[in-house]
Amino acid sequence: MTVDTAMKRLHLISFGCQMNVYDSELMASAFKRRGYGVAETPEDADVILVNTCAVREHAEEKVFSHLGELRKHKGRRPDVLLGVTGCMAERMGREIARRAPYVDIVAGARSFGDILDLAAAARDHRGPVVSVGHDRPPPERDVSVRRDKYRAFIAVSRGCNHRCTFCVVPRTRGDEKGRALASIVREVEELVADGVVEVTLLGQNIDNYGVDRPEGEDLHHLLHACHAVDGLRRLRFVTSHPADMDPRIFDDMAELPKLCGALHIPPQSGSNTVLKRMARGYTREEYMDIVHEFRRRFPAGEVAADFIVGFPGETEADHEQSVSLLHEAGFQQSFIFRYSERPATTAARRLEDDVPLPVKAARNLHLLKAQEAVSIKKHKTMVGRTYELLVEGPSKKDPAMFTGRTRGNHIVHFPGGSELIGELAAVTITDFSPVTLRGVLAR
Ligand code: SAM
Ligand code: F3S
Repeated sequence: MTVDTAMKRLHLISFGCQMNVYDSELMASAFKRRGYGVAETPEDADVILVNTCAVREHAEEKVFSHLGELRKHKGRRPDVLLGVTGCMAERMGREIARRAPYVDIVAGARSFGDILDLAAAARDHRGPVVSVGHDRPPPERDVSVRRDKYRAFIAVSRGCNHRCTFCVVPRTRGDEKGRALASIVREVEELVADGVVEVTLLGQNIDNYGVDRPEGEDLHHLLHACHAVDGLRRLRFVTSHPADMDPRIFDDMAELPKLCGALHIPPQSGSNTVLKRMARGYTREEYMDIVHEFRRRFPAGEVAADFIVGFPGETEADHEQSVSLLHEAGFQQSFIFRYSERPATTAARRLEDDVPLPVKAARNLHLLKAQEAVSIKKHKTMVGRTYELLVEGPSKKDPAMFTGRTRGNHIVHFPGGSELIGELAAVTITDFSPVTLRGVLAR
């Protein structure tokens, strides 16, 4: 490949959640519009952006160690602009520039819409340019800028109106702000015209979509409007909040064939005392009512979970409640996090982080093992059955195999052909491991 030396290039490193992947694509869109190309490595870049997460302390430490690496590079090429964006930038602001004085731009999760202006200001300034605490509209998306050819995320709302006592997101992303339904549908149409077949709608609490919209649109309307886009094959949405689930969404799942029967609905804990201290706004029983109703209506549907282990005051008995909830709900997948105290959250102010690290680690492992047992049991029942896969590409471990995802989010490897990439294929399951399945094309 010949390198056009006149063209400036952006290298973007994204940590954290799917919303960050999306926000990174928006920033890359802004730079593309300004004539920037993509730098595959920091060495080839004129601007390097690190889009960050603040949900756990570990995520922030990872960013600082990454910045340490980039510092060496900046030493060799001082003209390169280095920026930190996202939730950690929003939370820490100028503190980042103090700890990493070689950083040129700090743009919080609410002001990355100004990233081009901030980069221009950083070129003119001697010191770092810091922008936090301002709500700026995000850049317009250029749909050709995305990491996956056939699947795409779309943020339908930003921020969160809940105040879970452990969570830093309402502080870093602010209160919930929904996008106009018409602009979301336009983005789906543009993505589909550019080859996307599966869209995942993103919100911190997607059930609440529309609460602040003057036109009164809600998730139910949004799902119908997106589903109507010709050429779209699959539609998903995350993350559901157990206290806000709208029962009409199950009707939508039954009615709309492109809408996948998959819920990501974090319980966080199976203990009512812990849920109360977390201020989650539901009980274990209410949570399980939702799961049971979902299973009653969609026996082939799948539910994914998030758990926090070692929340302040969590006893062994509380933890056992999380283990039993995991078994009772039969999750397809569980994301398990050790509680990490986040500055300025209610939990940090009022509750002592009193579960020792080795206990958190042991509970984490225990829940992982429980999920493994549930997955093996589930995978066994899938052998011999045929599932619709969206074929994503060659398997990373074995290029002779192809990888796809079922509507319930199971990853399946099968010997296939490259002509199936981006297509829906029927695959019969033949074998499994705790995390993935193997299959053959159905005849
Ligand atoms: N909006 C989502 C919801 O409804 O719960 C969660 C957003 S949060 C970015 C993703 C996950 O990180 C949470 O579900 C929770 O399990 C975990 N998490 C959030 N704050 C945490 C903390 N202080 N320590 C450990 N895990 C945390
Ligand atoms: Fe955080 Fe709770 Fe909202 S986990 S993103 S405050 S629903």
